[in-house]
Amino acid sequence: MPQHGPVKVVIVGAGYVGATTAFALLRSGLVTELVLVDKNRAKAEGEAMDLSHAASLGPPVKIYAGGTAECAGARIIIFAAGANQRPGETRLDLVHRNTAIVREALPPIVASCPDAVIIMVTNPVDILTYVAWKISGLPVERVLGSGTVLDSARFRHLISRYLRVDPRNVHAYVIGEHGDTEVPVWSRANIAGVELEDFLALDGTPNLEAFKVETTHQVREAAYEIIERKGATAYGVAVALNRICESILRDENSVLTVSSLVQGLYGIEDEVCLSLPCLINKKGRHKILAVPLDSSERAALRHSARTLREVIEQLEL
Ligand code: LAC
Repeated sequence: MPQHGPVKVVIVGAGYVGATTAFALLRSGLVTELVLVDKNRAKAEGEAMDLSHAASLGPPVKIYAGGTAECAGARIIIFAAGANQRPGETRLDLVHRNTAIVREALPPIVASCPDAVIIMVTNPVDILTYVAWKISGLPVERVLGSGTVLDSARFRHLISRYLRVDPRNVHAYVIGEHGDTEVPVWSRANIAGVELEDFLALDGTPNLEAFKVETTHQVREAAYEIIERKGATAYGVAVALNRICESILRDENSVLTVSSLVQGLYGIEDEVCLSLPCLINKKGRHKILAVPLDSSERAALRHSARTLREVIEQLEL
């Protein structure tokens, strides 16, 4: 149960991702109040009613549909409203539609709970995290995006499956854009502190290079593969959001690859939001961990930053 007193989280957007995130938080024991905000009020009410019926079977949580007024006192705002990728669409293709939604919906909610931490998840999440920071006026530490927390989880899952080891003992990060230019940091991946090559040598598994190429592809293509089959993704990103909320609400200082404003690191001169390993606690982003990268990873991260910056420059912010 939460450490001290009521803990309210607002979820803006009661679609696939928002509703699934509400379910994850409902079962987590982290929150005492969940407010679902959606332009389609009936949808928000229906999801809240459905979720409420589960509340008596676990940690008690008040769940209801609300508007700006009901957001007052929230510790976290999760922004999940917007259009999803259609098959074949990239996340960046959504930028104009979803920027308009963020510009309209976010400011009044922030005005209602100015002390909250914002977690953007609507895609393109890095661009919209930057937009949220620009229009909210909140300190950079309190404007985050789900970023590559999900991609890092996918990366760890694939490594764990290949090496037949518990994914909780796989430490590996994806950084940069949550999208086609993301960067799996192979040079730092390890199993309980043992570098991949050394771990493979322990059991004679050959040919890491082929595995790296295939795994990098699978991580980058994961969402497209799922969208092709079921129309959208939800469970992975919902649990990723739950994990970020956990580190905030329990003041954990956990290392998570959230998206946030980075400038001056790795030769990135422009203002841009992208994912790097960060310590996350009750204040939001406590510290960026500028992990050493090899030359190809640094170049790929700078390419990711340039790709995002070019999109930001198309928006009149
Ligand atoms: C995905 C969505 C959240 O990667 O962008 O599943």
